[in-house]
Amino acid sequence: MNSVLSSILIVYFSVTGTTAGVAQKLASALNAPIYEIKAKQPYTEADLNWNDENSRSSLEMADILPYPELDDLNAPVKEYKTIFLGFPIWWGTSPKIVNQFVKSYDLSGKKIILFATSGSSGLGDTAYDLKKDATGSPEIINGRRFPASVSTEELKTWAESII
Ligand SMILES: Cc1cc2nc3c(=O)[nH]c(=O)nc-3n(C[C@H](O)[C@H](O)[C@H](O)COP(=O)(O)O)c2cc1C
Repeated sequence: MNSVLSSILIVYFSVTGTTAGVAQKLASALNAPIYEIKAKQPYTEADLNWNDENSRSSLEMADILPYPELDDLNAPVKEYKTIFLGFPIWWGTSPKIVNQFVKSYDLSGKKIILFATSGSSGLGDTAYDLKKDATGSPEIINGRRFPASVSTEELKTWAESII
C-alpha cells in the first residue's frame, strides 16, 4: 500500500445512519480506519425537528446555543495526514458538532476532505465555514454529497481522485 493510502482516517457524524453507511463503504473502499463523532448529549427526534425554530438543532444552527460537546476526544487524528470528514447537511452546512470537532483537535498540516449526505443540498460553503473554526489551519476541501445508494466502487474512484 502506498504511503498516502496508509495515512488516511475516516471520521463521520451521523444521527439517522445515512452518513454512517456511506462512511463505512468509504472505509472499506480505502481499507482505512473509521471513527464516529458522538455528541455527549445524543440527539432525539424532537431535537432534529427543523420545522420547530426552538428545537435543539434549530437553536444550535442559529448559534443561539453553544456548540454541542463531544462525547470523547479519542479520534486518532495525530497518526493520520489525510482525513475524510463526513456528516449530514443541516441548514446547508455542517452540524455544529462537526465544527466543535475541527476546533477540538490540532489539525496542523492535515488535509481534510469533506463528504456529506443530505435530502438534496450540496456542500455549499461548508469548507469555508469549517475553516473558520478549525485549529491549526488545516487544508479543508469540499468533496462531494453522496446519495445513500453510492457504491463502494464509486467511492473508491472518487477518493483516489481527490487524495
Ligand atoms: C436539522 C436538520 C437540518 C437539515 N437540513 C438539510 C438541508 O439544509 N438540506 C438538505 O438537503 N437536507 C437537510 N437535512 C437532511 C439530512 O441532511 C439528511 O437526512 C441526511 O442524509 C441525514 O444523515 P444521517 O442519517 O447521517 O444523520 C437536514 C436534517 C436535519 C435533521
